[in-house]
Amino acid sequence: MRANSRAVALGNRVRTFRNDVWAGLSSLPKQLPCKYFYDKRGSELFDRICLLDEYYLTRAELAITERHAAEMGEQIGDGVMLVEFGSGSSVKTRYLLDALPKAAAYVPVDISGEHLQQAAGEIAADYPSVEVIPACADFTEPFPLPFATRSISHVAVYFPGSTIGNFLPLRATRLLANVAGLCGRGGGLLIGIDLKKDPAKIHAAYNDASGVTAEFNLNLLRRINRELDGDFRLSNFQHRAIYSAECGRVEIDLVSTEAQIVRVAGRTFQFGAGEAINTEYSHKYTIEEFSALATPAGFVLHHEWTDAERNFAVLHYVVE
Ligand code: AVI
Repeated sequence: MRANSRAVALGNRVRTFRNDVWAGLSSLPKQLPCKYFYDKRGSELFDRICLLDEYYLTRAELAITERHAAEMGEQIGDGVMLVEFGSGSSVKTRYLLDALPKAAAYVPVDISGEHLQQAAGEIAADYPSVEVIPACADFTEPFPLPFATRSISHVAVYFPGSTIGNFLPLRATRLLANVAGLCGRGGGLLIGIDLKKDPAKIHAAYNDASGVTAEFNLNLLRRINRELDGDFRLSNFQHRAIYSAECGRVEIDLVSTEAQIVRVAGRTFQFGAGEAINTEYSHKYTIEEFSALATPAGFVLHHEWTDAERNFAVLHYVVE
């Protein structure tokens, strides 16, 4: 990208961020989109979350993938264009690519271009038989697949990490319908979802003793201060994460500890004492509940893998 088009893209991104923050802080209840967690520090904090004793999700999915990669590879099939939602920097991706020696192409999709290019370069060096074509895109919206020079027999989307749980169920179905459109008939989806379980275990995963999740949540305000000329006082907000068994989701908020006024990019927002900004939902599903979202999007469940404790599931769906 040329220097001036890069500057325009950056300007547009900042404007969108500002408008989303203004809209979110003007709504009732207040909310901020969780996609903004991931600036450099937010991504580092998330990497630390994934290593926490309490955060079972990453370990469970990794163990499932390591154990069943060969079977997953068979299900996905030869000649595939494997499209990963995410940069492809995870160990899970490598387990999967190891199990797909006849994959035609691999397309990591990420909004952060820099991270994407680096991760894609590393994969290309280690898997010379696969055509690696990074796509810098926001996968939450429809985007065109890049052209591959190799012949492709079908497309499969790999969507690990239970990121789908951060979408409201209706939005999840809409995103899955986009995925089904991207894959077309005969295409597949390999997706990781966090399963319903003992609420205490879920609660601990989002309220870790060392406070990394709280830091991760508060970092969003730090980012707004830095990038949007905000004046949030971080000590005036507290992390709160509560699992609602009724809604099947963790509700993650930042709670104002006192009545206060905050300025962001020239606009002011009032907070009452105890008023919350919702920053994220993390939905937990049974396999049946999740399939009830994937079926209207056009997918049929072909295979499921779980860990021994049934904490997490990796599901393979096909567009028939
Ligand atoms: C990225 N996503 C699947 C994480 C989750 O568990 O919902 C984000 C997260 N939020 C707090 N801890 C982890």
